[in-house]
Amino acid sequence: MSALFSRRSNAIFRLVVVLLLAGANGALLGAMLYWRTPYGTGQQAQIAQPVQFDHRHHIQDDLIDCRYCHTTVDRAPSAGIPPTELCLNCHSQVWNKSPLLDVVRASWFANRPIPWIRVHKLPDFVYFDHEIHVKKGVGCVVCHGRVDTMPAVEQVQPLTMGWCIDCHRDPYARLRPPGEVTNMTWTPPPGDPVAYGKELAKKNEVQPRTSCSTCHR
Ligand code: HEC
Ligand code: HEC
Ligand code: HEC
Ligand code: HEC
Ligand code: HEC
Repeated sequence: MSALFSRRSNAIFRLVVVLLLAGANGALLGAMLYWRTPYGTGQQAQIAQPVQFDHRHHIQDDLIDCRYCHTTVDRAPSAGIPPTELCLNCHSQVWNKSPLLDVVRASWFANRPIPWIRVHKLPDFVYFDHEIHVKKGVGCVVCHGRVDTMPAVEQVQPLTMGWCIDCHRDPYARLRPPGEVTNMTWTPPPGDPVAYGKELAKKNEVQPRTSCSTCHR
């Protein structure tokens, strides 16, 4: 190199290499930091849905269980978003003239699903499964917040790796009887919640899970 290039160009070459490396690291760091801000993780983002579907009216007023609409939440990785037919089980009778339901009726007649916009979305390289969380007693409210009080669903937890692992390492205080997972207001019985959680963990065979291949496979 020193035979081909002058000392000066050698120094410039080194500088360029250093800057390139710094640039690549900087971009990676930037991307990682961005994902961790509420803006990057999608927390607090207001999403305008094609239909002003309001969980408050459906859960609080009508006491419909989450599983009536999110039918696969206890038996598949994905919770599932209800098809238009399910809305019309009720809305062919209730509010059947309301303009708020125009898009729902149009979807039915065109035989085309309502284009709901995703609120929660993990990167593709992460594996997530609703079924196991529901069966082992992690309540919807722990990860999704009080959906029953939200005019429009918002992401309330960061969904970062640190957040997932924090619970996987020490899930006990956040466990409940599996029968209570959709209950938005459940509280543990009086006493030590960790001891109670450990009892539940034993009964439902809950294991701490921190190996990388749990979520990256
Ligand atoms: C009457 C049907 C119905 C019931 C009951 C219902 N949901 Fe939903 N849910 C929907 C529809 C439709 C959407 C898609 C539109 C939206 O995001 O608001 C949705 C969206 C969601 C989302 C956001 C999904 C995403 O895009 O990330 C969450 C979380 C959710 N529901 C949780 C719950 C929980 C928890 C319960 C029970 C406490 C519940 N839902 C009960 C119909 C329902
Ligand atoms: C089990 C019956 C039932 C099902 C299923 C159901 N709804 Fe409703 N919906 C109601 C009732 C009852 C009201 C009126 C609530 C009120 O006024 O308190 C309502 C109100 C509404 C309203 C207008 C009022 C408001 O602000 O929420 C919209 C929009 C709506 N529903 C959309 C949907 C969509 C979309 C689906 C399918 C994902 C759906 N509903 C499924 C019973 C149902
Ligand atoms: C351990 C945390 C956790 C629990 C508990 C949980 N969810 Fe989720 N939920 C998530 C994550 C993370 C996503 C995004 C998944 C993805 O992008 O692959 C999600 C996505 C959803 C969606 C969007 C559709 C889908 O499946 O991707 C709905 C609807 C939903 N959850 C409803 C529920 C309901 C209802 C319950 C309770 C019965 C529940 N969730 C319990 C973390 C959780
Ligand atoms: C509040 C607690 C909690 C949070 C938050 C949580 N998990 Fe879990 N997760 C559990 C428990 C409990 C189990 C069951 C462990 C066992 O007994 O095998 C589990 C199991 C799993 C499994 C194993 C599924 C299988 O069939 O092998 C995966 C994958 C998983 N979680 C992914 C995630 C991801 C990804 C996140 C973050 C987006 C997350 N979890 C957040 C508590 C949690
Ligand atoms: C409980 C679930 C879970 C476990 C266990 C887990 N991860 Fe992740 N990982 C995630 C989630 C969710 C993301 C995406 C969100 C984020 O980047 O924080 C992620 C992102 C990543 C990324 C992308 C870069 C980054 O930081 O944004 C890398 C690399 C990674 N994980 C490596 C690992 C390694 C190595 C292990 C084992 C030591 C591991 N993960 C264990 C859930 C998990």
